[in-house]
Amino acid sequence: MKAIQVAIPGDASKMQYVDVPKPTIKSNSLLVKNEFSGVNFIDTYIRSGLYPVPMPTLLGREGSGVIEEVGADVTGFNVGDRVAYLTVNNSYAEYSLINPERAVLLPQSTPSDAAAACMLQGLTALTFVRRAYAVKKGDIILIHAAAGGTGQLMVQLCKYFGATVIGTTSSEEKAKIATDAGADHIIYYTREDVPTRVREITNGQMVNAVFDGVGKSTFQASFDSLRRCGTLVSFGNASGKVPPIEINILSKGNIVLLRPMLNDYIHTHEEFAEASSTLMKLINEGHLNINVCKVFDLQNAADAHHYIEAGKTTGKILLKI
Ligand SMILES: NC(=O)c1ccc[n+]([C@@H]2O[C@H](COP(=O)([O-])OP(=O)(O)OC[C@H]3O[C@@H](n4cnc5c(N)ncnc54)[C@H](OP(=O)(O)O)[C@@H]3O)[C@@H](O)[C@H]2O)c1
Repeated sequence: MKAIQVAIPGDASKMQYVDVPKPTIKSNSLLVKNEFSGVNFIDTYIRSGLYPVPMPTLLGREGSGVIEEVGADVTGFNVGDRVAYLTVNNSYAEYSLINPERAVLLPQSTPSDAAAACMLQGLTALTFVRRAYAVKKGDIILIHAAAGGTGQLMVQLCKYFGATVIGTTSSEEKAKIATDAGADHIIYYTREDVPTRVREITNGQMVNAVFDGVGKSTFQASFDSLRRCGTLVSFGNASGKVPPIEINILSKGNIVLLRPMLNDYIHTHEEFAEASSTLMKLINEGHLNINVCKVFDLQNAADAHHYIEAGKTTGKILLKI
């Protein structure tokens, strides 16, 4: 089968469109013929070596498609069922062997592109605004890169839970996207001082929590935008990894700092099933809009990585398999 493989960590030029053996079914897995694979920042971290894995490796953490084979010990799925799933580094491929405990059956009404697009960013946004910091009515929340894939979903969810949302973006075009997603206020974080603007917008109250997937370039501004006993959820490295911090900085204002990963909020099948069914319900009821901004062919996956790393995304990026 065709797949994208990385043999040596590095930039997007290291991604090769190659023939690899089609996976063979295992008793506890599903073999899926993919229709779409989601592209996520984590794929660039795996490719570059920021998150080291054994090489060579395939890429891709989510997808959608049709079940071609069902493992002997698997129940609840049949050949021909359409599914969306989370996986570990194997969805940029024609076929993926996946864990049925990380898959959801798709109703006829759910298109395969939207299904692939909602899993990783949707579950991240949902679990983080419920569990990393439980957003509630009356909160004021700062969300960086509010027009990005995860950012737009976090904005919508924070509004759904009754918060006032301040979003940061780099451009007017992205500001409109964040505003359309529900952001009440915009800060142009590449040219405005974020804590100063947060102070103005909140009349000095500052924010209850910051969701920061940008990382290195925004960490200090996030920290300085919090009110006493505020929470900083630092969850990504879009601009680079946050340097090591001195724990005593948390004493000024009794700040709560988290650096969560999605997987530990959906570790058990019960956690995954609850979060994914809540996510699908929010989408189906129209509370959460999934915005696919660009679709690349599998063989052009390197272009998708260039696109995401250039900060061009205004929603979800998919590979059509
Ligand atoms: N911890 C977890 O489990 C988890 C799960 C999912 C995602 N994440 C993280 O969440 C972050 C956002 O992911 P996403 O999929 O939503 O990405 P995305 O849609 O591509 O959004 C990323 C945004 O970051 C901004 N950005 C700022 N500096 C950047 C830089 N130097 N290079 C590229 N972009 C830059 C850009 O918006 P502006 O142009 O407005 O600045 C860009 O649109 C990533 O750091 C990712 O690793 C973490």
